[in-house]
Amino acid sequence: MKHILIIGATGQIGSELTMELRKRYGNANVVAGYIPGAEPKGELKESGPSAIADVTDAEAIASVVKEYHIDTIYNLAALLSVVAESKPKLAWKIGIDGLWNVLEVAREQGCAVFTPSSIGSFGATTPHTQTPQDTIQRPRTMYGVTKVTTELLSDYYFNKYGVDTRAVRFPGIISNVTPPGGGTTDYAVDIYYSAVKGEKFVCPIKQGTLMDMMYMPDALNAAITLMEADPTKLIHRNAFNIASMSFDPETIYQEIKKHVPQFEMVYDVDPLKQRIADSWPDSLDDTCARQEWGWKPAYNLESMTVDMLEKLREKLK
Ligand code: SER
Repeated sequence: MKHILIIGATGQIGSELTMELRKRYGNANVVAGYIPGAEPKGELKESGPSAIADVTDAEAIASVVKEYHIDTIYNLAALLSVVAESKPKLAWKIGIDGLWNVLEVAREQGCAVFTPSSIGSFGATTPHTQTPQDTIQRPRTMYGVTKVTTELLSDYYFNKYGVDTRAVRFPGIISNVTPPGGGTTDYAVDIYYSAVKGEKFVCPIKQGTLMDMMYMPDALNAAITLMEADPTKLIHRNAFNIASMSFDPETIYQEIKKHVPQFEMVYDVDPLKQRIADSWPDSLDDTCARQEWGWKPAYNLESMTVDMLEKLREKLK
């Protein structure tokens, strides 16, 4: 039986990953780790154990892992790309000093560790179309710098100490439970909220800007399937390209309009977000993930849009 700690359990991915893992492994076996000021609420709080797990506090992480006999850590603590540009030192402290703490605890107490990388680990000199698994990674954002370092440090702990580190490069994640904050791909979540609220959407990203995106159920499946995969089949570990859809603002707008014909969108391009988006791939080649651990997404833009609108209509009613 697995005993799992989610660091960042109240964030966009953590809040849904914790509930999914509790469904699969039993409520009592999945600890929701949070930082003071971001306590779990509602079902997340009621359905299982929670504990303070500040990634920058090595002793706190070590004692939670010990107390709950943790064998698997999902380390989701990070600042997203836009906010990391205004707080680069904090982004490093959380993303890398924090990861170091987690990896040390994992080495000492024998845990497997999932720490996501991102499409943000690529940069302007990376091939942008069907970006290969192994390619140039020279990002110029602090978010990207921390994600490339995450991949390298995780590989280092695997190769040197045998810590079972594994990860995927997440694209923009679209979800309807907890909103993202401070990311370049957030527009693809915000657009659905505007459509359901009957508001005009002001898009910060230029028409024609392609970015890889994924619906939350596929993102959760990717993380869990990879952590359950047969290690002898994994040639790569940190981190796998995964892909399910790639679109620009106009394409998602037109898709939503099929269901909300009166929906309006205008552009007011944010220069920082645009610069970041332009440096990221248009689409990823995820062949290695498909071959090494059977990655297969269930949603495309059409099916995600139907589900997002249905869930948000229910939530915002
Ligand atoms: N969603 C992230 C961001 O936009 C990318 O991984 O920062």
